[in-house]
Amino acid sequence: MKKLLLLIAFSLIAFAQTPEVPKEYPKGELGRMVKLGEAIMNETNTHPLTKDLVGNSLQCKSCHLPGNDGKPGTITTVGTFRGTAASFPAFSKREKTVQTLQDRINNCYMRSMDGKRPIIDTEASVAMAAYITWLSTGFPIQMEEHRPCSVLTSKRWAANQKKFGAIQKKATHKNYVAGKKIFEAKCASCHGMNGKGTGNFPPLWGQDKNGKWLSYNTGAGMSKLNKAPAWIQENMPFGQGGTLSDQEAADVALYVDAQPRASFSLKDHLLPKEEMGHYNSKVHEEKHSVESNFKDFGLDLAKIKGE
Ligand code: HEC
Ligand code: HEC
Repeated sequence: MKKLLLLIAFSLIAFAQTPEVPKEYPKGELGRMVKLGEAIMNETNTHPLTKDLVGNSLQCKSCHLPGNDGKPGTITTVGTFRGTAASFPAFSKREKTVQTLQDRINNCYMRSMDGKRPIIDTEASVAMAAYITWLSTGFPIQMEEHRPCSVLTSKRWAANQKKFGAIQKKATHKNYVAGKKIFEAKCASCHGMNGKGTGNFPPLWGQDKNGKWLSYNTGAGMSKLNKAPAWIQENMPFGQGGTLSDQEAADVALYVDAQPRASFSLKDHLLPKEEMGHYNSKVHEEKHSVESNFKDFGLDLAKIKGE
């Protein structure tokens, strides 16, 4: 009995411990690919292999935040890449298919990066998967039946979406006004009053002088009224994650996602079929706008904005 209790105690401790990010890169060609993947995630919109596939001014690390080691995706909050590779292949409700890690990575290009989906098995696609897999060293395989998400955050991410969905359904113009105040007090110093970003701080909405959209489009997870507050509450203000109350996170996300951003039509983000090869999805038509994202929660955008 004693032995059994000890065994249970030890396995609980082992389970609670998050494996550390490996200290050394793999050797040879594999190490080169891991480093290439890391570089792409830091410089996605300027890197020679991916810049033509990115439509906005973001990088992967804009949402998959660096931890203390400065590497993209090493924080343990929502957006982490640690443990992510261990969840794949994973079922995705959005595509209605089982997705590989490369599929999942490449999908963020169409939505969060407002760009084009890279081709599976091209150097950039393999390199990014190699980097994420390296960060998942030491995590036991635990394929996800419900959503393509890291084992570290999957349950919390789902629970928080549900919680914030319920809060957002009750939103009125007052919540929009409260969100604007929070934005001006706690976000605008870095992201700008106009949401266009400042210096190295990334844009949240809007267009540049030439009409180029600056941030994620209306097909992105971040544009959804239940997902944005779940991400923002854990990660923002930068360096002060976990300081916004549920209502504050909901209100500031409502304000940010009510601002102008690119509409999404899936077809515009797929390369021509002969170039792209097989697209692993049963869904080939999908459209969203800022208005429709609000309607999904029973909200009228114009009323919320007080127009
Ligand atoms: C604007 C924010 C944003 C940017 C930029 C972004 N992502 Fe994501 N990404 C998300 C969110 C939010 C999720 C959670 C998915 C969901 O349910 O919508 C996600 C999920 C993922 C996942 C699934 C794994 C997990 O544990 O959630 C991978 C892999 C991923 N992104 C890769 C990338 C890569 C590679 C890039 C750069 C090409 C990128 N993302 C850029 C916001 C972003
Ligand atoms: C101290 C500066 C700072 C403050 C204050 C701040 N952010 Fe950020 N934010 C960042 C940085 C830096 C990143 C991207 C991380 C990176 O590139 O390493 C980011 C990324 C983001 C992103 C995802 C990327 C994008 O551009 O869409 C969102 C959404 C966001 N912040 C929202 C907020 C909100 C809402 C607040 C206020 C509650 C806030 N931020 C406050 C610095 C800040």
